[in-house]
Amino acid sequence: MQIKISATATATATATATATATVGGSAPGLERREPRSRRFGLARNPAFHGGRINRARSYVYMACRRQCTLQEDVPMASSQSNNRRTAAAYEKCARDYAASVLPQPSAAGAEALRRLADALPSGDGVLEIGSGPGWDADFLEALAVPVHRTDVARAFCEFQAQRGRRAEVFDLLVDEVEGRYAGVLMLCVLQHFERSDLDGVLRKLAQALVPEGVLLLSYPLGEGEFWEHGDSGNYRVVLWSDAGLDDRLRAAGFEVDWASRFDGREAPWRYVLARRTR
Ligand SMILES: C[S@@+](CC[C@H](N)C(=O)[O-])C[C@H]1O[C@@H](n2cnc3c(N)ncnc32)[C@H](O)[C@@H]1O
Repeated sequence: MQIKISATATATATATATATATVGGSAPGLERREPRSRRFGLARNPAFHGGRINRARSYVYMACRRQCTLQEDVPMASSQSNNRRTAAAYEKCARDYAASVLPQPSAAGAEALRRLADALPSGDGVLEIGSGPGWDADFLEALAVPVHRTDVARAFCEFQAQRGRRAEVFDLLVDEVEGRYAGVLMLCVLQHFERSDLDGVLRKLAQALVPEGVLLLSYPLGEGEFWEHGDSGNYRVVLWSDAGLDDRLRAAGFEVDWASRFDGREAPWRYVLARRTR
């Protein structure tokens, strides 16, 4: 697959000596050490899976935000600085995050990823934004879909490089995608963009797709915006309703092909598969 990102800050991550933390290292509060049977109630919650955290447990995962508190909206200098603050927090928690999220998707996640794979027109594979540990890319690649993995956090790219995967540093708010892909995958990332940035973000994703290309998103449902504060830093969270997001998708040239809600710990979440129509 040809990689065609033109990024002002793109750098291929290498497994450098700076990445010293051990995957699965000690992070108090992670339920993965508890046998499933002792964690009453969790096994029934679709947000939990086999003793480790599945996606959408929180707006940001517990590993990143022990003793987290939610706070009312605090105005910041600019939307981009809010996202930079969030990215800086991910830099600090990437390894805890990777260790606390199951490598295999939930049943709902697997269904969404299979739908994406089945819906792809012929093309250049899938561009993943905010790849994180890269577990979803692994799943897609096992379905013979090549994935171009990217993340704004170098620590995630380094984590992936250490396990033999190539991921590039790429900031969706700043960098440009020059290539055209059959699909774009962006799971659990959209909530970190300001409301005023969403139209630009969706237009950029549409331009990254071939005609009839497909976009798979997941995001927490709701209204309002706030900061989540944790040990590793502060995470901006912006919520969208079904109708609110679908309006923005249509305005950016997408048509929703399929959507499905699933339960998160603090909010319902939603998968959306949307096709580029123009
Ligand atoms: C909740 S994590 C989701 C990671 C992965 N997709 C998953 O589902 O496990 C949010 C991800 O969004 C990334 N992110 C935040 N802002 C971004 C930006 N401006 N450009 C690209 N990625 C961004 C973070 O670095 C982080 O990897």
